[in-house]
Amino acid sequence: MMGTTRIRVIGAGAMGRGIAQIAVLAGFSVELTDVSDDAVAAGLDFVGAMVRRSVEKGQRTVEEAERALALLHRGASPTAPAADVDLAIEAVVENLAVKQALFTELETALPNAVLASNTSSLPITTIASALHDPSRLLGLHFFNPVPLMKLVEVIPGLRTDPDAVATALRFVEAVGHRPVVATDTPGFLVNHIGRALPTEALALLSEGIASEADIDRIVRDTVGLKMGPFELMDLTGLDVSHAVMEIVSAGFYGEPRLRPSALAAVRVTAGLLGRKTGAGFYRSSDGQQQAPP
Ligand code: NAI
Repeated sequence: MMGTTRIRVIGAGAMGRGIAQIAVLAGFSVELTDVSDDAVAAGLDFVGAMVRRSVEKGQRTVEEAERALALLHRGASPTAPAADVDLAIEAVVENLAVKQALFTELETALPNAVLASNTSSLPITTIASALHDPSRLLGLHFFNPVPLMKLVEVIPGLRTDPDAVATALRFVEAVGHRPVVATDTPGFLVNHIGRALPTEALALLSEGIASEADIDRIVRDTVGLKMGPFELMDLTGLDVSHAVMEIVSAGFYGEPRLRPSALAAVRVTAGLLGRKTGAGFYRSSDGQQQAPP
């Protein structure tokens, strides 16, 4: 891609590792970083395994896989100074204070980079308000699992420079995904529209009208989605999806249509976050969903 060659990914969890994977496969050099060394190691292992599996599936040659993996590096640290990073993509915990503190350091450490947040729901303009120069920051919202979900929301904040938006759009197209420019409103486009189904499903469950499994089956069989709302919440992680519900609800001043659910909140308190902890609405093992608990 013209101009952008070196990417730093900050946060090597579910989203960061997926972003690193598609970026190296598209020929970008990627530094994967995290506050946790173990998370970086697990992320590097994961990308290696996924790329090698794609060779077994006949999707690319051994040479192509090796070329891509040679572009993947462990970064020195999330905020190590570097003048040659063109684009930094942040995929850390969904928490405004954490993201603002990180970007405040990144704007000095990476003087030539466009700064992108993979936030699901935090307003880009608010994250950017902590920066000396808010024009370099925008939202670059990938969906889970990153290699399969081709849609990416590109979200300019109110003070984002159009050149930064152009860089982000070129990057998304270069990795073979499909960008949509979304307005910086709570939940942007997809997580605002996408609240409807899980919110209603949680209301049906809490009112005892139907079980998780029945609601998921009906949505799969009749609406035709690949996953029902409870399956999707378990995949996303309830810590993420419930936080998004709270942020979108607050952003629209408590609009009743968008009310978060106590059923989800109590699971977050209990550590029943979904596949990442072995149980959420369903039990799971090796990342696969099984029977309801
Ligand atoms: P995750 O919990 O899998 O990974 C987050 C990683 O960030 C962890 O490895 C953690 O050690 C690291 N981290 C935390 N604070 C850090 C800091 N200050 N500096 C560097 N690393 C730090 O989270 P996940 O699911 O990958 O989500 C990341 C972001 O992507 C969140 O903003 C989330 O809202 C957003 N997102 C998540 C989606 C999902 O389905 N899980 C979908 C789309 C966006």
